[in-house]
Amino acid sequence: MSRKTIAVGADHGGYEMKQELARQLRDMGYSVLDLGTDGADSVDYPDFAELVVKSVIDGEAEQGVLVCGSGIGMSIAANRHKGIRAALCSSEISAELARQHNDANILVLGERLTDISIAKQCVEKFFSTEFEGGRHTRRVKKLG
Ligand code: RB5
Repeated sequence: MSRKTIAVGADHGGYEMKQELARQLRDMGYSVLDLGTDGADSVDYPDFAELVVKSVIDGEAEQGVLVCGSGIGMSIAANRHKGIRAALCSSEISAELARQHNDANILVLGERLTDISIAKQCVEKFFSTEFEGGRHTRRVKKLG
């Protein structure tokens, strides 16, 4: 069986956390598609949200992770696209619910607002939790 691919992307405000979470995902056995950014130089978060969104929509990656300073810009940018459900999470329980109830396909984190240990818990939970379906399917369908 081929390994699940997770696309990761960040701007300069989320670069360090993205590097750390990419390592975590590789250690968890996933294949990681790192779409940048590749350093601390200032860049624009919509460009990297776009790359991760496209990889998920095209099926190159099953799910994604986006990180910026607050997580807000990345979630706004990603959620403009049909079929993308990007969840800005700041606790293990929010990451769990994002999968169980919302079938979120992109986990968004804010490096400047969320401790790396919490972010790692979010990653662990998000990628090990299944969508519950049932009544949530009807609701998720209404999102388009
Ligand atoms: C970049 O300084 C910062 O604005 C960005 O990382 C993010 O927080 C935007 O929402």
